[in-house]
Parts: sequence; structure tokens; C-alpha cells
Amino acid sequence: MIRKTIKLFVVSWIGSFLITPTTALALSLSHEEIVPVDLVQYILPRFSLKTRVRFDRVETSGDIHFSAEEPEVGTAVFTLKSGTVIYIGTSTSLGEDSDYIALVDWLLSEPGRATIADFRQEGSQVAFPVEAVEAATVEVVIVGDLENGRELSTNHCRRCHKVDRADKYAGIGNSPSFHAMRSFEDWYTRFSAFYAVSPHKALISVEGSGIEKDRDLITIAPIDLKMSDINDIVAFVHSLTPLDLGKPIQVNP
Ligand code: HEC
Repeated sequence: MIRKTIKLFVVSWIGSFLITPTTALALSLSHEEIVPVDLVQYILPRFSLKTRVRFDRVETSGDIHFSAEEPEVGTAVFTLKSGTVIYIGTSTSLGEDSDYIALVDWLLSEPGRATIADFRQEGSQVAFPVEAVEAATVEVVIVGDLENGRELSTNHCRRCHKVDRADKYAGIGNSPSFHAMRSFEDWYTRFSAFYAVSPHKALISVEGSGIEKDRDLITIAPIDLKMSDINDIVAFVHSLTPLDLGKPIQVNP
């Protein structure tokens, strides 16, 4: 019994060493009065639950600060009902801090944005997350000839895909329509490389792509394209109105 008590004591003593430094090093966080306290109190625990990162809440001048003024280091995260844009910011020296970056990333992520949007005061939404950062930070440069792309798509792809939305008879069951695919965030990547994936691999040859085909293995009328044709198809698809497939399902933390 005594040994057990001593052991427990030692464990908690050592434990205090292990825990103290991390709490002491936790960044502090504050917010301007314009940001509702309840909103901050709603957001932070959900963030900490996901990331195990915690901040010391302080009244003013925290290491991390929610403010209505654009900080030197920071980014816009939501807009209040009044239209005021709220930023999260920190000092230059903490701009690369992993806890700070984790918070910014989370606030801009789908779960973070959903959390911000979910918060209610007297039944109504208070904060509106900033627009999702386009996944296409990869700049999409459209260089192709749209009309040639339309023609190629109609001549070759329409066999299996619905290319024109008004076209009732095109497309076969398991091939997604061009409009539906245009709504995918990564439509550009898919349309730039479709000839390398099944089922196209077996019937489409693209001159200059570096992918050699054994023509004997192509059993149905082969489709021969050039690399520039791919650009044209991309330009054509870019011009299509994406099909609204509904909002992504939001998983709330
Ligand atoms: C023989 C029928 C057929 C033809 C012809 C065809 N496709 Fe497809 N395509 C398919 C099918 C089936 C799928 C779905 C594959 C899957 O879900 O795995 C597909 C998928 C795609 C995708 C999505 C690929 C991905 O990464 O998910 C793109 C983009 C695409 N096709 C573009 C084209 C273009 C452009 C043409 C014309 C040059 C074309 N297809 C011609 C049958 C065809």
C-alpha cells in the first residue's frame, strides 16, 4: 500500500515535469470585442479536440489574435453578420509556429468552416466562413481551342459520355457526363490525363504523350488524338457549366 502510494506520488511528480513545459509554452489567444466570446468558446474546444492543440485564453494582446483589422501576418477567416471581416493573426516571429498554423488550417478547412457556420446566437447564424480556398492554387491556364475541343468531344467522347447536356441520347450508363465531371474540384487533372486511365487506355492513342499502344489490342474503333487535342478538350470542358451535385456532406466535429 505504501509502495503503491509512493509510486503514485513519483509518477505524478515526474508527470508534473512532463506537463508543465507544454502548458507554459502554449500560445495565448485573444480576440477583439467585436468577435462574440461565445463564438470563440464554441470554436476553440472543437479545434482542440481534433488537434490536441490548446491555447491560453487571455483578454488582450494574445500571441494569436482575432481582429477586424488585417494583421501583418494572418488571414481572413469569417465575416460577421454586420459584414465586418474577422482575421486571425499573429506576430511575425510566430508566423511559422505549428500551433498557429494548425489553427489557421483548421479554420479554413471544411470542418472548421462548418463549425463557424454552425454557431448560433438566439437561433441565428453569427459568422460566415470565408469562401473555401480554391483547391486550384495550381493555376489553371487554359490554352486550347474551345471549338476544336467541342468537335473532338462530340465526335469521340459522345460515344460513351454525355457531352452536351441537352443531348438526351448520348452517353452510356457507367460513363459520367462531362457536366457532372466538370463540377469535380480536380476536373482539370482528370481531363488532362484521362487517356492514361481505363477504359480509355484501351482505345485512345495520344501522339506525343509517351504512352505507346499496341494497336492490335485495340478492339473497338480506336481514337487517335494529339497532345494539342487534349488542351482543346480541356478548354471545351472549362467552358461547360458545372452540374450542381449538391453541397458536400459536412462532417461536423
Ligand atoms: C468507350 C467508352 C468511352 C469513351 C469513348 C470515352 N470515355 Fe471517358 N470514361 C468512360 C468510362 C466508363 C469512365 C468511367 C471510368 C471509371 O469510373 O472508372 C470514363 C471516365 C472519364 C473521365 C474521368 C477519369 C477519371 O480520372 O476519373 C474523363 C475525364 C473522361 N472519361 C474523358 C473522356 C474524354 C475526353 C473522351 C473523349 C476523347 C472519353 N472520355 C471517351 C468511357 C469512355
